[in-house]
Amino acid sequence: MNLIQLIYSSRSTGIGPEDVESILLGAREFNSRANVTGLLCFSAERFLQCLEGSRSAVNDIYRKILCDRRHEGAEILRYEEVQHRDFPGWSMAYVGDTAVNRVRLLRYSGHDEFRPEELAGNSARLLLLDLAGSLEERQGANGEADRRSLSIARTSESA
Ligand SMILES: Cc1cc2nc3c(=O)[nH]c(=O)nc-3n(C[C@H](O)[C@H](O)[C@H](O)COP(=O)(O)O)c2cc1C
Repeated sequence: MNLIQLIYSSRSTGIGPEDVESILLGAREFNSRANVTGLLCFSAERFLQCLEGSRSAVNDIYRKILCDRRHEGAEILRYEEVQHRDFPGWSMAYVGDTAVNRVRLLRYSGHDEFRPEELAGNSARLLLLDLAGSLEERQGANGEADRRSLSIARTSESA
């Protein structure tokens, strides 16, 4: 199987928290079936998302995402064949405003605003990995209760 990692950014068309929740619920259900993993970050009206899985599954999902009116201006930042997943076991993890803090932004973009469309592909990947680390820490600290929260969705798959 060609394992692909796709990272893109986009701008929200003005959606609210319920919309993000509904995107995540649908995404997690579909992605688990398609063996696609990743992380979605939403902050300052911008999305930054990583999708990883077989080339056909990732391409199919990205095509659907492109047609979604809840966002616009999608830009592919990275499209790479990879040996391993960065987010194995996450059908679609989620991080919001609180994790996207100044320190992290300065580290990966050199300024403190979240403008993912300006990130180099590898910086986008490193920022997402760092953000996923914040979820793992929270999970470790809070155990089972947090594991069931909106921010975290683990699948049994880990290929
Ligand atoms: C920012 C964003 C990220 C999304 N991520 C996913 C995803 O990872 N997987 C998925 O199946 N749908 C995702 N969606 C939802 C799809 O765009 C689409 O609404 C959903 O797959 C249902 O499509 P369908 O009605 O054509 O089956 C996302 C939508 C947005 C706006």
